[in-house]
Amino acid sequence: MVGAAEVAARASAAGLDAARLPRHVAIIMDGNGRWATARKQDRTRGHEQGAMVVRAITTASVKLGIARLTLYAFSSENWSRPQLEVDFLMGLLERFLEGELATLMENGVRLEAIGSLERLPAAVRSTLERIIRTTSANSAMTLCLALSYGGRDELVDACRAIAALVAAGRLDAGQITASTLQAHLYAPAASDVDVVIRTAGEMRLSNFLIWQATYAEYVSVAPLWPDFSVSDYHAALAEYQRRERRFGGL
Ligand code: FPP
Repeated sequence: MVGAAEVAARASAAGLDAARLPRHVAIIMDGNGRWATARKQDRTRGHEQGAMVVRAITTASVKLGIARLTLYAFSSENWSRPQLEVDFLMGLLERFLEGELATLMENGVRLEAIGSLERLPAAVRSTLERIIRTTSANSAMTLCLALSYGGRDELVDACRAIAALVAAGRLDAGQITASTLQAHLYAPAASDVDVVIRTAGEMRLSNFLIWQATYAEYVSVAPLWPDFSVSDYHAALAEYQRRERRFGGL
């Protein structure tokens, strides 16, 4: 567990206000392919380098006492990439999970995953489930990987589950509220996203956490994901802290 005094000192060293740090950060890790292409390397090299950045940003988030970090690691649309790239990403994910277990335990990080996980190869799924089980009592931070994830799929799945309850006579349609929908999301207990950061200068949400990010601040940063440093991360959080959040009020 990271102490409040430690967080305050670290935040201030990073030019951040410890009292106004986001609780839930979500990141769209973009630009791995461009990073590799610019170096005349295979796209897979970009993903490999990107995995190292995942480790650095996860650790930096724990140090700032951030409660939840959700990373868009593989979208439901990413299945349409060339099979070789999909296979590489799945293998990388499995190696990453195995390799990170000790660090997750050391840092008190609980792993979670959201998405159509049944579409993942069996080996990846069983590694994922094992690491989720092993880290389930950790409480410093939750690292949530969005895998085979699509925001619309998530809402459709929630609607199906709610419709089944109505059809079974266990829920009255007139009683459905935003809380009912929230309760049927992939991670129902997760708080709303405070800030979505996207690398590689892109300005799209790309079907990421469309329900949870309704009132999130959106910060687009220029570096490609494999170049995204901890100081770039701190700068993105400082940009978030400069925003005035009104949640539709005045
Ligand atoms: C976007 O870059 C990135 C992805 C589709 C995959 C993200 C994966 C990683 C960061 C590495 C592995 C992650 C974990 C958790 C181990 P892109 O390929 O779309 O880049 P481009 O837009 O430049 O082509």
